[in-house]
Amino acid sequence: MSENFSEVRQTIVQLLSHMRDGKEIREYLSRFSGLDQERFAVIKVGGAVIRDDLEALSGSLAFLQSVGLSPIVVHGGGPQLDEALADAGIATERVDGLRVTRETAVPVIRETLTKANLAIVDGVRAAGGQAAAIPTGVFEAELIDEDTLGRVGEPTQIRLDLVAAAARAGQAPILACLGETPDGKLVNVNADSAVRALVQALQPYKVVFLTGTGGLLDAAGEIISSINLATDYEDIFAADWVSGGMQLKIDEIKRLLETLPLSSSVSITKPKALASELFTHAGAGTLVRRGERIFALGSKAELDLERLDGLVARAFGRPTVPGYWDGLQLDHALVTENYRAAALTTRLAGSIYLDKFAVLDEARGEGLGRAVWQRLIDYAPDLVWRSRTDNPVNGFYFDQCSGAVRQDEWTMFWRGERSMDALQPVLQAAFALPATLEASS
Ligand code: ARG
Repeated sequence: MSENFSEVRQTIVQLLSHMRDGKEIREYLSRFSGLDQERFAVIKVGGAVIRDDLEALSGSLAFLQSVGLSPIVVHGGGPQLDEALADAGIATERVDGLRVTRETAVPVIRETLTKANLAIVDGVRAAGGQAAAIPTGVFEAELIDEDTLGRVGEPTQIRLDLVAAAARAGQAPILACLGETPDGKLVNVNADSAVRALVQALQPYKVVFLTGTGGLLDAAGEIISSINLATDYEDIFAADWVSGGMQLKIDEIKRLLETLPLSSSVSITKPKALASELFTHAGAGTLVRRGERIFALGSKAELDLERLDGLVARAFGRPTVPGYWDGLQLDHALVTENYRAAALTTRLAGSIYLDKFAVLDEARGEGLGRAVWQRLIDYAPDLVWRSRTDNPVNGFYFDQCSGAVRQDEWTMFWRGERSMDALQPVLQAAFALPATLEASS
């Protein structure tokens, strides 16, 4: 067994054993299995990944199959085509990013993409899974502009019979970006257009891009964990470190997400990390969602207190104490559009005090909690808050705070540069506050 192959297996074993009780994995598994399998995921694989990372790719796809999940794979073959066309003495020419495809190139393209397709199919089989080669027969396309582009098509219709037949037989459908005109002429289909058409037709829960980098990178070259388009899009475009290529990528993803339900998301990851990305909240790669807007509100009257109460109860697993909302002296509230995350502050001994920070479990991993948190600390750089010492979110709080002290069941956290003397009054006051949630049963 080669190295990459066992690496994937290792990742999966690690993933399964390191989860405290496998709760996250089970949650995702039941979420994904509950979907119509055609709606689970469309996975786009670039040609470079097939060339460089085939075994990890095959291993990850076989793993998904072994847990009963069948994603639909669409692949390109850019580098392979460049090479094959060069070998055949055909120059590669592009117009508006599309590969100009002369008549003479068509047989080379068919052969090269079929080969790439079979490489994945064989790989999945070698890894113990089952896959069906579907290099053609799915994308019905019309020629875009035969004079300039030659045999390049835009998908007009998706034929799902082959995909459905493969799925019925328990095989992962592997599709190439090849289309046919209604009268059966083979055309080259741009990979982005193919994915877009397929995603529109299938409305999958996940769209996954498998790349060599395994995510979108920030200014420091680190993978950006999540992007919430509703709140981050403008900032990303204003940032000077975002390259033209990345902007195009994000725009393409935005375009995809706009045709999908709010619950769908796009992940960019590498083959080896696919299982970690899919089965954990934290993921391994970049998650992009349409996301929710965050509203900043200054009075209780503007809030839907009943929904907020529901959010807090679900996020903490226990309800607020009676009279909590009546007694709340709200300073500032940040609430997402659909009440899936919220932060509420009050004033305590002259400081801004975070009274509640609630994020629904299902919204974790989306970056929604982080987006609210960011707005919160922009609003209140000198924030003070407390948390029960057994709160699983404390790891995040320790990361975020400038200092913390622990007393009995409470840990007090603060941000900003203040002396302990200056902090004393608010810390004392916070320790003395009564519990706001019912005791856990
Ligand atoms: N497992 C979840 C999903 O696939 C969350 C992934 C989170 N990933 C991330 N890079 N933040 O939708």
